Amino acid sequence: MSSFVLTGARILGAAKTDIVITDGVVAEVAPGASAPGATRIDADGLVALPGLVDLHTHLREPGREDAETVESGSRAAALGGYTAVCAMANTDPVADTAGVVEQVYRLGRDAGLAHVQPIGAVTVGLAGERLAELGAMADSAAAVRIFSDDGHCVSDPRLMRRALEYVKAFDGVIAQHAEEPRLTAGAQMHEGEWSARLGLTGWPAVAEEAIIARDVLLAEHVGARLHICHVSTAGSVEILRWAKARGIRVTAEVTPHHLLLTDALAESYDPVFKVNPPLRTDADVAALRAALADGVVDVVATDHAPHTVEDKECEWPYARPGMLGLQTALPVVLHTMLDPALLDGGGEPGPARLDWDGVAERMSRRPARIAGLAGHGRDPAPGVPANLTLVDPAARVTVDGGEIASRSRNTPYAGRTLPGRVVATFLAGAPTVLDGKAQR
Ligand code: DOR
Ligand code: ZN
Repeated sequence: MSSFVLTGARILGAAKTDIVITDGVVAEVAPGASAPGATRIDADGLVALPGLVDLHTHLREPGREDAETVESGSRAAALGGYTAVCAMANTDPVADTAGVVEQVYRLGRDAGLAHVQPIGAVTVGLAGERLAELGAMADSAAAVRIFSDDGHCVSDPRLMRRALEYVKAFDGVIAQHAEEPRLTAGAQMHEGEWSARLGLTGWPAVAEEAIIARDVLLAEHVGARLHICHVSTAGSVEILRWAKARGIRVTAEVTPHHLLLTDALAESYDPVFKVNPPLRTDADVAALRAALADGVVDVVATDHAPHTVEDKECEWPYARPGMLGLQTALPVVLHTMLDPALLDGGGEPGPARLDWDGVAERMSRRPARIAGLAGHGRDPAPGVPANLTLVDPAARVTVDGGEIASRSRNTPYAGRTLPGRVVATFLAGAPTVLDGKAQR
């Protein structure tokens, strides 16, 4: 297998060094390190991070290959600095059997652009009525550990309890899309001042908070692992803070869009801003940033949700909820969360701040631990599998619909200039991205 030397890279923003990659692993890290016949890659001043890991990606295959495929989605992932993505189960057919999760797993392996880790459905057909074959999915070649009905809430408390009990046996985790459906019937956007002004049916914060409160209590009762998808409100943060202080085994994610965008964007009636859970208020954004900084919210997950032009460019009430995320997640996180001093003053001013190590923790190490992906989420060091990404912290990129690798175009950031550019990504020692371009 081939060797590479990444010259002048700054691991987690530290002093420049050279990183030697041989046979899929990091062989040496030292200034001047090299290997015979190695390909030299100029990484002067680039920040080396462990390859990013996404806990929440919609790849749409099988069933909606017109919106995304495992291959196109994992190419977008690689370009965004990701080496592993967890594929959500709301495909068609639903990933509720060993057969479907193995199919997605194989498609990911064959595409070879990122590790694709299938998530299994909690209930048959996401219908919320009967548990899916969780054990068979766990025992399959896909070795499923995370189960989610994402897109739908497991709203029946008895079923939720049984699911938690079932996965506890093999240290699995239930990832809940927290939305009490009886409080969100017909909802189009966050319930508040803007929904009243625009005449769109509201999705109240309490619909999320009520389910999180219920489920942390169930997780405590059962002693099982619970993960909360796309936390979006200040109230949810307070419940999670309480649950963690009690020692409940709960983790939580926030999306890049909930760290940056607010419900005021709905004023345009442009459905590119329609998403579930909806964009919230400035106060929610501030609470989510603070919670990500202090660890009450563990990780950033994209909720990358590609939709075709037909499903997205129509009147607001008819548009599907969801937005692209894989190629813009890191720039949005750097913009909203990284200490501006580490970006030549390019970030937003604000009290909640991370350094590069904090970014690596929330976008790679912690998500890898939650998903149980042993070869991912490890800082570049001798003997570690070479899953890593190189980021130019001085670059500013204006998001352009034309550069999107996804089959869909529904990015809410078009025209925005954001800091940081992924220059290269390595998966098991081979480049999936070089010079900002996908290698296959
Ligand atoms: O906005 C969303 N889109 N939220 C979800 O929960 C599902 C997702 C999708 O599948 O499009
Ligand atoms: Zn969801």
